[in-house]
Amino acid sequence: MRWPTSVAALAILALIAGSCGRERRAAHLIGFSQANLGEPWRVAMNAEIAARAKDHPDMDVIYADAQQDNAKQVADVENFLRQKIDLLIISPNEAKPLTPIVRRAFEQKIPVIVLDREIEGDSYTTFIGANNREIGAEAGKLAAKLLAGTGDVVEIKGLPGSTPARDRSEGFREAIAAFPGIRIIHDPVANWLREEAMSQMESALAAHPRIDLVYAHNDPMAVGAYLAAKAKGRDGEMKFIGIDGLPGLDGGEQSVKDGKLAATFVYPTGGSEAIDMAVRILAGEAVPHRITLPTRIITK
Ligand code: FRU
Repeated sequence: MRWPTSVAALAILALIAGSCGRERRAAHLIGFSQANLGEPWRVAMNAEIAARAKDHPDMDVIYADAQQDNAKQVADVENFLRQKIDLLIISPNEAKPLTPIVRRAFEQKIPVIVLDREIEGDSYTTFIGANNREIGAEAGKLAAKLLAGTGDVVEIKGLPGSTPARDRSEGFREAIAAFPGIRIIHDPVANWLREEAMSQMESALAAHPRIDLVYAHNDPMAVGAYLAAKAKGRDGEMKFIGIDGLPGLDGGEQSVKDGKLAATFVYPTGGSEAIDMAVRILAGEAVPHRITLPTRIITK
């Protein structure tokens, strides 16, 4: 008769342990849908989110990587909705294709934080990101200064459907419009990617015997352009400006230190701010509809 008793005791113990395990499931489930994890800046954003979320044991963050694919990102968010997330954080690959699913989540009363790249319309709780038009304008003013008001510029653009590419271009063009001696002679799209920027820059170099400055919408593309120019022995003839200013060995900060880039502008990932906002939203606080993060120029 002793055996069954201990078996029962064990079963009870197992039950207790099991329910304790279940109780450890966090009070709030957050889904973070990332546009891609192929770029160092996005890896930094995920790391920032994970580090800040650690301070909140009542919060579980689940991650999805859309791999630059709009359809995958829509599916990722649908999957989050099936898992009954309490809040969505999304950095959308492109604005238009991601707008309907974000709206759907928002209309289901799930708070939505949009990070860095925007969607269309207003169906989200809060947007967090730096002002890309202003960063573009700052880059334009710097270009005008470096060129002393005259010169031929190559602009290398990010993914056209992503709002920072639009805003960084418009801000830059507005700023240089005040300088009739500055011309944009070539403006290829390289989709934010270093390798694509390298091959686009090869075409620019072949087409133009003189290039005075390259403005790329992010640092990986600026470095790609620099490498292409260097391979042709022409890097000394022009200046390079990028955006992101990531710290660390492979970041834009180092590229400025190494003299590859004349300057870059810090584009904060907003990862910690997103978690801070999530905490406030889930506590029932009203938060601003737009949170603009600061930028800063990095030169030698
Ligand atoms: C990474 C990235 C950054 C850029 C940002 C714009 O995917 O291309 O380099 O600053 O996206 O959304």
